[in-house]
Amino acid sequence: MLRGVVKWFSQVVPSPALARLSLSLSLLVEAEAEAAGVVHLVALEPPLQPHDVGPSSGALVHDRAPSSPSFTMVFTGAHLGSKVTRALRAPLRRLSTAVADAPTPKPAVKPECPQFSSGPCTKRPGYTPMALADAALGRSHRAKVGKAKLGAAITQTKELIEAVGLPKDYHVGIVPASDTGAFEMAMWSLLGPKPVTCVHFESFGGDWYTDLTKQLKLENVTNMQADYGVLPDLSKVDWDQDVVFTYNGTTAGVRCPVDMPIPADRKGLTLCDATSAVFAQHMPWDKLDVVTFSWQKCLGGEGAHGMLILSPRAVERLESYTPPWPMPKIFRLTKKGKFSAGIFKGETINTPSMLATEDYLDALGWAKSVGGYEGLVGRADANLAVLERFVASTEWLGFLSGDDPKVRSNTSVCLTVADLDADGVKKMAALLEAEGVAVDIGAYRSAPPGFRIWCGPTVESADLEALVPWMRWAHDEVKASL
Ligand SMILES: Cc1ncc(COP(=O)(O)O)c(C=O)c1O
Repeated sequence: MLRGVVKWFSQVVPSPALARLSLSLSLLVEAEAEAAGVVHLVALEPPLQPHDVGPSSGALVHDRAPSSPSFTMVFTGAHLGSKVTRALRAPLRRLSTAVADAPTPKPAVKPECPQFSSGPCTKRPGYTPMALADAALGRSHRAKVGKAKLGAAITQTKELIEAVGLPKDYHVGIVPASDTGAFEMAMWSLLGPKPVTCVHFESFGGDWYTDLTKQLKLENVTNMQADYGVLPDLSKVDWDQDVVFTYNGTTAGVRCPVDMPIPADRKGLTLCDATSAVFAQHMPWDKLDVVTFSWQKCLGGEGAHGMLILSPRAVERLESYTPPWPMPKIFRLTKKGKFSAGIFKGETINTPSMLATEDYLDALGWAKSVGGYEGLVGRADANLAVLERFVASTEWLGFLSGDDPKVRSNTSVCLTVADLDADGVKKMAALLEAEGVAVDIGAYRSAPPGFRIWCGPTVESADLEALVPWMRWAHDEVKASL
């Protein structure tokens, strides 16, 4: 028989009767653990009424580590008003502390896949290199077979994204040098005729700002910068300038909201580095003139190639403006002043990797099999929800992005640990790696100390569920060693 405390999550909502019960702060639960790791609720004090925990309120009790003295009861339902949420949160966190005082025993179940890297990201579930058996290896990318592969990669990308709002007259192309290549190619080709605003809130956006000011040496650049974890005030952006920004800050765990205020009648172009957002987040596609991403992120493909998406307005700029600086061959999107449309049909600028192309085609096929773009977003959202429950029930853990779920990334989820310094967090990460439970989850080298756990679509929720008790264990081990 286990005895534990019901942990509440502010974002899930019980019936009013349950809210009253939780406020009484004496909600103890007795449960029996089965070998399989399922905890059955057998008694509650004060007792819950059947309608409180019945299917109508969707109560679910679970714990993947039956030996743990604490377990989790998750209620799903309509959302609580924020007042009730706030009223619940403080006392219940105190309640959780009492449980946390006992060190967490070593969990028994490990994630099946310990890969939570933010790039290259883990391969799709079930992946094996056998999926590449049909690659056009040793063939010219200009031959019929090679061109068909590259064309299919473009067409299938378009199909997936058009289903969630990419206008049909946008161009999708494969370019060299991953997302960096795609984004710098766009900046070098399009910028110059207008003042530029750079909205940045983490390291890669910072790199684009450096490009604008130190490499392109543009004179009229407005710097809209925010610290790690904070989104600049998007209502202050002048969209009549060209605007360079990152949609999802991979190193900060902050994303732009889908309803960001980009006017349809803007005079400037919007250049959006969306490498850790495409295939995991909804985006205001028809308001974006340039979108770039790489294969190695949300679909778990390989590095090497980038995807460049251009609106008709971006093409218009390409054909009406010639930048004053030299343009390397691999950045050239026009020929004799005309848009190089072939690049967007699979006629790549230089030689692509047919192996990486095959791998991307495999990833696209998997994407379709899980419900297309919507299915992929659903998977990333479900993954984030696992960590949201973890944070809500853990006093020492928080999101680098703070409390606003609208700007919280569902791919590169960045967590802070309140009661450990950078060294302690590193020790936690090292313990998890040594146990074969999680690799590559330390915060980005220039970001505040903490964890960055990739929650993109190729990650399985069950693996994150299995990781959580291990993180509690590693935390308690490090605390005990201090
Ligand atoms: C937001 C952002 N931009 C650019 C890059 C660079 O991507 P790549 O290495 O694929 O060129 C990354 C890589 O993680 C990123 O997260």
